[in-house]
Formats: sequence, C-alpha cells, structure tokens
Amino acid sequence: MKIAVVGGTGLTGREVVRAVEARGHEPVVIARSVGVDIITGEGLDDALRGVGAIIDVSNAPTADSEAARAFFGTATSTILAAAARAGVSHHVVLSIVGIDRVAGNPHYAGKRRQEEVALAGPVPTTVVRATQFHDFAAMVVNWSTTDGVAPIAPLLVQPIAVPDLADVLVEVAGQAPVGGIVEVAGPKTEDLVDMARRTLAVRGETVELVPSWQGRFTVEMAGEVLLPGPAARIAPTTFEKWLATDPANGAGSA
Ligand SMILES: NC(=O)c1ccc[n+]([C@@H]2O[C@H](COP(=O)([O-])OP(=O)(O)OC[C@H]3O[C@@H](n4cnc5c(N)ncnc54)[C@H](OP(=O)(O)O)[C@@H]3O)[C@@H](O)[C@H]2O)c1
Repeated sequence: MKIAVVGGTGLTGREVVRAVEARGHEPVVIARSVGVDIITGEGLDDALRGVGAIIDVSNAPTADSEAARAFFGTATSTILAAAARAGVSHHVVLSIVGIDRVAGNPHYAGKRRQEEVALAGPVPTTVVRATQFHDFAAMVVNWSTTDGVAPIAPLLVQPIAVPDLADVLVEVAGQAPVGGIVEVAGPKTEDLVDMARRTLAVRGETVELVPSWQGRFTVEMAGEVLLPGPAARIAPTTFEKWLATDPANGAGSA
C-alpha cells in the first residue's frame, strides 16, 4: 500500500517513513521542502494519487492557542478534502495523551482542534494519542535554559521511543479505522526533572535544573494528567535503554 506521511521530513516523520518501508509499504513524503503544503494545498492532489492511508505527524511552531488552532484546523481540513478526492480509506493522526485534561497549553489547544476536525471529516480516521518522547526532557531543557539555569516542571510522564511509536502508527494505518482515539505509551512512568538530569549526565552537559511550575508547564499538568489510561498499548523501549543506545546521547560514537 502507498502510505502518505504528512511531516515525513520531521523528527517523528523520518522514523515513520522508515517503518512504512520496513513493513513493505511505499512511503509518500508530504512536506513543504518537497513541494507539498498542507495549508495552501499546493501539490497535495498529486501527492495523494493512489495513496491508501495517510499518517499525519506534521507540526508547526505555534506561539499561542489561536495560531495553533488555526494551523492544525486548516491543515487537517485541507488534507482531508484532498484525501476524499483521492479516495484515501484511512487517516491516522498523531496526537498527545492528556490534551483534553490541560486547558492552558497552546500546542494542546491546536492538537484538540486537529483531532476534532479529523474525527468529523470525510475520511475514516484513527487518532493515536502518544505520550512524550524519550528526548522530551532534552527539548524542554533546550527551550528553558537561560545563563546555565533551567526551570523544569516535575511532570509525571510515561515516555516512548519514536521508532516504537512509528511502528505502531504504521500498523494502525494498515488496519480498519477506529473512528476514535487509541493511546500508546512507553513502559515506565518517569519524572521529567530526573529524565533531564540523566540525559544531561550521559551527554556530559552541565545545566542547573530548578524544579518549578512557573515555566511553560503549569500546575494543571501536575499529577497523573499526562499518563495513559489502562487500555493504552505499551511500547517496549525504556528510557534507560534509550539513554544507553541512542546516537543523540553519544551511543555508537568513538
Ligand atoms: N515531542 C513529543 O514528545 C510528542 C509527543 C506526542 C506527540 N507529538 C506530536 O508529534 C508531532 C510531530 O512532531 P515532530 O517534533 O516530529 O515535528 P517536526 O520535527 O517539527 O516536523 C514537522 C514536520 O511538519 C512539516 N510541515 C510543517 N508545516 C507544513 C506545511 N505547511 N505543509 C507541509 N508540511 C509541513 C515539516 O516539513 P517542512 O518544514 O518541510 O514543511 C516537518 O516535516 C506533533 O504534532 C506533536 O504534537 C510530540
């Protein structure tokens, strides 16, 4: 089957493209850098010709809730209109566990809009809500560090390896649409401050971490709001294994 990967050049998308190939399907990459724009629709009809399923792992830098809702709402309607014209039979959207329990996060507002438009759209859809990725703590440190100090919220998360997630997304794309939401998570609950500390240690980087709810992640994300429900599919790779084996952490270098 031909599977279109929307955002196929991104962090998640590159792994999804690999997983599509590994399962014997043919990937079609959709991104502006290959001439296809999900906001204007440029190149979409051509890209979706002969495609059986779409996996949407696109993303956009979005400063506020309105911009995030506008991006994900417009992109999803544009993709689905073209998908319906092309006769695509399954649309798979990557979303995030717990977005319905956190009102104040702009990115989550955009993701709620994306889910809403996709599930109400003309193509049978499955929303796959995943937990945070193993490199999430490193990303948050990167966004938050000023003069060697990073305030980090002590979030409880159950992080997942991106290749594990990519494999689940491709498997789901090859099955019958659910018409709703499924969850996928990594195997163990972790604390984001501890994840940040361990990531910095393996990378040999020094940043002073200050546990705090005053930054980008507020106290409405405390407790178990980001953790998956009991029906979630559990992916195998632990954070510990990722720390020891991922090239981003120096694994495999001389
Ligand atoms: N990080 C986490 O812990 C986590 C957890 C769960 C779910 N997620 C979700 O994962 C998704 C993917 O994130 P990511 O970090 O992998 O994204 P990313 O690396 O920023 O990649 C974004 C992709 O979207 C494409 N794109 C952006 N605007 C486009 C446009 N107008 N037309 C066509 N393509 C466009 C980009 O290609 P061009 O720039 O070439 O257009 C790129 O391929 C996000 O939606 C996020 O909510 C993330």
